[in-house]
Amino acid sequence: MGSPATRTDPSDPAAGLVARAAFPLLRDQPDLVYLDSAASAQKPAAVIDRLTRFYGREYANIHRGLYGLSEGTSEAYEAARHRVARFLGAGAQEIIFTANATAAINLVAHAHGDSSLKPGDLVLISQLEHHANIVPWQLLRERRHVRLAAIPIDDDGDIDLRQYEMLLSREPRLVCLTAAANTIGTVPPLKAMIDQAHRAGAMVLVDAAQAAPHLPLNMRDLDCDFLAITGHKLYGPDGIGALYVRESILADLPPFLGGGGMIRSVTLAHTDYADGPRRFEAGTPAIGGAIALATALDFIDAIGFERIAAHDAALLAHADARLPEIAGLRIIGRPAQRTGIISFAIDGLHPHDIGSLLGADGICLRAGHHCAQPLMERLGLVGTTRLSFAVHNTTSDIDRLVDSLARVRQMLR
Ligand code: ALA
Repeated sequence: MGSPATRTDPSDPAAGLVARAAFPLLRDQPDLVYLDSAASAQKPAAVIDRLTRFYGREYANIHRGLYGLSEGTSEAYEAARHRVARFLGAGAQEIIFTANATAAINLVAHAHGDSSLKPGDLVLISQLEHHANIVPWQLLRERRHVRLAAIPIDDDGDIDLRQYEMLLSREPRLVCLTAAANTIGTVPPLKAMIDQAHRAGAMVLVDAAQAAPHLPLNMRDLDCDFLAITGHKLYGPDGIGALYVRESILADLPPFLGGGGMIRSVTLAHTDYADGPRRFEAGTPAIGGAIALATALDFIDAIGFERIAAHDAALLAHADARLPEIAGLRIIGRPAQRTGIISFAIDGLHPHDIGSLLGADGICLRAGHHCAQPLMERLGLVGTTRLSFAVHNTTSDIDRLVDSLARVRQMLR
């Protein structure tokens, strides 16, 4: 793919890193302010075009047909696996396509949890986690009687590293951590925490659903054992995600779902399973999703994470400066490192009321508990209102939000 329609001056957050025109929905709705990319990112034309071409001109099932269309599609699907692997600094044999990050984490809870964890084994999560990195472990606790403990956070919204060390001394078998918290944007010191977990004898799963559009993730550097991403937050289609599993673990990991495509041979008495990632891809997968996800990753890599990080930082600084102009507004969390997510509360106003009034004003953002109810409880809040940034956002999006918030404040006074 060619370079996306980037602006000439990437250091100017007033201009956006990629023109709105690259996103058909934003191009056609010039008054819409989209600050909800942590929920799901808008899709660039390149991704939509790739899906259209696939369904209009290339479509057939994969790994089943002996005709040209099917062979071409199979090749494109496997090329997409290589593309995801390159994005994550991993080998293609370490990438399993899943429906999303939630499905990826559930896969680990079933395939690894059910086969390798015993009653009484300790699994650590953190207070920052999305429900997707909490509930699968509670379900595993019901199935396998493992123990579950949460690493606390401090009042800034950072992981309490002393408590983490203390919990590691209880010899957990698995540590499940977010790489960027979906509600308050905390980016934990992941590499150091993974090293510590390994020294304590634990394996590590990383929920990178929110981090992947903002931060480079290299499996060789990070050295985690499992990592989950989702396509729809990466400017790709929904219904496609990926799970990285370290090759040495994947080799012995038993399958989770059974069916077509994940077998080498089947008799009525016995099944031999396929080697590698295909052992975990029973049934017809999201073929178009995988292929268009590869295009989305091209889109991100053509921009580059250095520029994305600088853009996020500039937007965060602008939001940080302007949001407190609203009477009674508090920014929630002051983590040492933050991705392009910022949450706030306004004294006396329910986040749902704020969200729906902003929505009526053409401002799209998420309000509520953000599928992180334990974090809300820790923060003593019913919910927050959350802005989350993408490459098309500009400082004037934030200015529009602040103007609209001032009106909301006036209205609900
Ligand atoms: N996990 C997504 C969010 O944080 C849906 O909004």
